[in-house]
Amino acid sequence: MWRFVFGLLVAVGTVLLVQLPSSHAWPESCGNNKTHNFSWGKRGYYDRLMYSVEEVKASSFLRKLSYDVTIPPKGTPQKGAITYLEVLDRYTDGNGGCAYLNGGGIGFRNVTLHIKSQRNKGVNFVINVYGLFN
Ligand SMILES: *[C@@H]1O[C@H](CO)[C@@H](O)[C@H](O)[C@H]1NC(C)=O
Ligand SMILES: *[C@@H]1O[C@H](CO)[C@@H](O)[C@H](O)[C@H]1NC(C)=O
Ligand SMILES: *[C@@H]1O[C@H](CO)[C@@H](O)[C@H](O)[C@H]1NC(C)=O
Repeated sequence: MWRFVFGLLVAVGTVLLVQLPSSHAWPESCGNNKTHNFSWGKRGYYDRLMYSVEEVKASSFLRKLSYDVTIPPKGTPQKGAITYLEVLDRYTDGNGGCAYLNGGGIGFRNVTLHIKSQRNKGVNFVINVYGLFN
């Protein structure tokens, strides 16, 4: 009996390990706050706003949106090193999406954010990226 239970646990554990590709296991939820603001780094006195991007997408019936945004987009000029960035949710009713860091960011010259919506919901974020111009 115990041998069987142990075997089952090992099997379940193996499946879990196999199913969790490290960088793409985004959490199911981003907390209970009504507004999903996120920030990374710390804004210094000399930091200036380098990019301000509106990330707005309509909902998709029965689907969750899940995609990456890079600021500045590939192929466009990079203005400087990033010191602080904030993602401000314009939804104030808990229906907004979540944002996760997926590349670059503080100390880099670009940042890639992974954006997720809730099922049947859209996203409406303002992304402000601060840093030191070249
Ligand atoms: C919820 O809001 C509080 C206060 O603004 C903040 O400290 C906390 O990090 C937020 N939690 C999440 C999961 O966003
Ligand atoms: C989210 O950020 C906006 C803009 O700074 C602010 O007005 C709002 O109070 C913030 N919400 C929370 C829950 O921190
Ligand atoms: C971010 O910037 C680095 C360095 O310039 C570049 O190699 C990389 O391709 C950029 N990432 C994206 C997703 O544009």
